Amino acid sequence: MEIAEQQRIIAATADYVRQALAQDSSGHDWWHITRVWRLARTIAARESKGQFPAEVDLFVIELAALLHDIADWKFQDGDAEAGSRVARAWLEQYPIDSAAIDHICAIIHDLSFKGAGTSSMMPTTEGMIVQDADRLDALGAIGIGRTFAYGGHTGQPMYDPELAPHPHATFAEYKSARSTTINHFYEKLLLLRDRMHTATARQLAERRHVYMLEFLQRFMDEWDGHEHSFPDEM
Ligand code: ADP
Ligand code: NI
Repeated sequence: MEIAEQQRIIAATADYVRQALAQDSSGHDWWHITRVWRLARTIAARESKGQFPAEVDLFVIELAALLHDIADWKFQDGDAEAGSRVARAWLEQYPIDSAAIDHICAIIHDLSFKGAGTSSMMPTTEGMIVQDADRLDALGAIGIGRTFAYGGHTGQPMYDPELAPHPHATFAEYKSARSTTINHFYEKLLLLRDRMHTATARQLAERRHVYMLEFLQRFMDEWDGHEHSFPDEM
């Protein structure tokens, strides 16, 4: 397929996703998609220079990044197939070869985090890059913001000192567990740094990880009333 045709499909897909997710308030809004799309391109560019296994298929990366949250299982009655199904229906209206469509849909299917103890298989470089980009957007200042937005959206408590974090061993357990927004840092967000696939993402994740640790330290200090430095004593 010619580059111009690929660009046309990417632009149409971006329009479609922007409209579909414009009103989202769960942290999966269009701007999340925009950030992941851009991060994925950045990672792909940097990794290719480093000869990361072979040349990557940027067309697959961009479409998977754009469509990855089009129908998230968390908002589809736990249906883990919904995202790839909706993406396939969209892509099949274009003359994209079926191997590329299969590849994009497989990435979307495998992308989402399904519990601390579940393995995350991502067999292709394209998938690793999109997953790294998506995970980076769950870290750092943006990640903290999105996590609290999600907690408010689903109505879970911000924090409950009597509810310990729980490493979920299976997807079923992760899906149905009662949690808090603070626990989510221990159940997922702080685990992501060590699960990045690419060197570029590992570098970016490090700073975001440290920032979240600082945030949690302060949160607990304020919660426990352990802030001893009053302005007039400083
Ligand atoms: P992704 O977009 O990577 O698939 P998720 O859909 O798992 O990520 O999560 C989207 C956002 O919502 C992330 O920022 C994530 O931290 C947050 N989130 C997901 N589950 C919870 C939860 N149980 N409590 C608080 N935040 C959550
Ligand atoms: Ni996402």
